[in-house]
Parts: sequence; structure tokens; C-alpha cells
Amino acid sequence: MDIRLFDSSDLPSRNTALDQGDKILNDQLPALQVDDRFHNEPARVGVLGPSDAPIGVASITATSRREGSSLPPWTMQLVLRTGSEDSLCSLVSGLLPSSGAEVWIRPEHQTVTDEVQRCWPDAYNCRRLHLMAVDLPVATEPIPTRALNPNDEADLEAVVRVNNAAFSAHPDQAGMTVDSVRAKLAGIGHGAQGVRLAEIDGVINGFCWTQIHHQRNLGEISVIGLHPDVHGRGLGAPMTAAGLHWMHRQGLSQAILYVEAGNTAAVKSYRRLGFHVAHDDVSWMIPGAQ
Ligand SMILES: CC(C)(COP(=O)(O)OP(=O)(O)OC[C@H]1O[C@@H](n2cnc3c(N)ncnc32)[C@H](O)[C@@H]1OP(=O)(O)O)[C@@H](O)C(=O)NCCC(=O)NCCS
Repeated sequence: MDIRLFDSSDLPSRNTALDQGDKILNDQLPALQVDDRFHNEPARVGVLGPSDAPIGVASITATSRREGSSLPPWTMQLVLRTGSEDSLCSLVSGLLPSSGAEVWIRPEHQTVTDEVQRCWPDAYNCRRLHLMAVDLPVATEPIPTRALNPNDEADLEAVVRVNNAAFSAHPDQAGMTVDSVRAKLAGIGHGAQGVRLAEIDGVINGFCWTQIHHQRNLGEISVIGLHPDVHGRGLGAPMTAAGLHWMHRQGLSQAILYVEAGNTAAVKSYRRLGFHVAHDDVSWMIPGAQ
């Protein structure tokens, strides 16, 4: 079966392909899970199957990695209709760069795992994310915060400074810039009021960035970070609580977040707040021809 490829030279077709991927994905996800992976700006999108009812969609996006990262600078997002898992190899191969890619195939499924291992015996799991959920409000007292002022360069720089120090070892959350903060703020469900800044020891040393999924009446902790200077003081839970309380004040009664399963300090902080693991997502490192 042929793959049809789309890029930014034909935006309407590319966007239709992304919407089709989004639809296949969201038809399979539990109600709690919000997944906007097909809402990014990929370099290319591949569609397998009839144009009015595709059986699979994959998109590939250039991804900046921290220096020294062993991961290739490409992330692929892939979804297949249930029962079409045997199309996985053709869809991935149709878009795979020679350097390989980190491939997210959600939701996690044994048939998918078997198919990846059959096609690429050298492929390996590189990341595992917990999707965690909590009912609002939470009992934990939040750390005092104020909203980010999007017109104040110092506020934007403070978020960049704390983020890049907090996530210096993270595969794709490091490398924030003032421009990327502005771009993220303009995203759907984001806004300056929902970015809570905490002054700790006289400077902004923490922030909690929230996002609201209005169509699902669901809040998300998009990023929470404390500067390493203030780690280990029990501030993880109250810093997160600041975002949760803000979302509850907006009328929301449930919140989710994604966290690397191995981030013990974060997972412990979230459990302390009442979060539980609802689901896991796994990415595969699929080698290219190089
Ligand atoms: C995650 C983060 C907010 C937690 O805040 P913190 O101040 O470091 O952690 P806390 O002092 O609040 O400790 C939380 C728990 O983790 C434990 N912990 C702290 N650092 C730890 C470490 N390096 N390894 C294992 N456990 C650790 C603490 O003992 C505490 O456990 P307890 O609940 O049993 O008492 C902070 O580490 C951070 O900003 N990290 C970088 C950015 C990040 O990972 N954000 C989350 C992304 S989803």
C-alpha cells in the first residue's frame, strides 16, 4: 500500500492529514487522556490507506536535543487503526530519516511492541511517560505565586532561566528561549494567567505552567520547574499545587500531567498531591539506515 506524503508546500492537505491522525487517535484514547500530538508543526506527514478513511497516519518533526544526547534529532508520532498493526513497518519506513527517530506509538499495545521488534530487532524503548491524574481541589497548600506578565521581558527571561536550569538533562524540555515561551503562550489553552511564578529566596525560582483543554473541561500541568538551587526543600508539591489551585479557580475538577516514569522527585511530589498513574506511554528508538 502506498504512503501519501504531505509537507508545508501543501498546507491544506497536510493539515487534513494531521486531523485524520488526530481523529484515529482520539477515537482510541480513554476519555481522560488528552493528546495533541498531531497539533504540532511537523516536517512531513505520511498517510496510509484510502484518503477518506486512512488506516494510519505518522508525522515527523525536527526536535532539538540537549547537547550530547544520543537521541536522533527527529521525533515521529504514529497512530494506526486497531487491527492495522501489520502496516506499522511500511508507515514508519516511509518517513524514517537515515539517522533514525524517536517514535511514539500510542496507546501502548502488545501487538505494536511485537511488530516493532519484528521489523527492527535493534529498536529499543527509550522513554516511558506516566499519564497521572488527580481530582481537584487538592488539599496541599500552594506556594504563593503570581501570574506571568507577558509584556515584561524580565518575567519571560525568568521562566527561561528556571526552565533551562531545571531541565538541563531533559531530552527535549531544555533549550527554552524567550521566543519559544511567547510561542507556547499563544498555543490553544495556554495563557499568561495560567503560568504561575513563585519567588523563592528573593528571586523567581519556580514556575508552574498550566493548560486548559476546554472541550474536555480538563486541566493539565504542562511544565513545572524549580531552580536546582531550591531543590530538595519539599517545594515540588506546593509548587504544583499553585497550578492546580489556579485551574480549580477556573472551574475545573480534574487535572492531568505527563511525567517521565524515572523522575522520582517529581512522581513522589505528584503522588503526595493525590495524583495516580492512569496510563503509560512509551517511545521507541528506531534506527535509520546510517
Ligand atoms: C520535580 C521537582 C519540582 C521536585 O521538587 P524538589 O524540591 O526537587 O523535590 P522535593 O524536595 O519536593 O521532594 C519530593 C520527594 O522526592 C524525593 N526526592 C527529591 N529529590 C530526589 C532525588 N534526586 N531522587 C530521589 N528522590 C528525590 C524527596 O525525598 C521527596 O520524597 P518524599 O515525598 O518521600 O518526602 C524538582 O526536582 C524539579 O524542578 N526538577 C526539574 C524539573 C522537573 O523534573 N519537573 C517535573 C517534570 S514533569
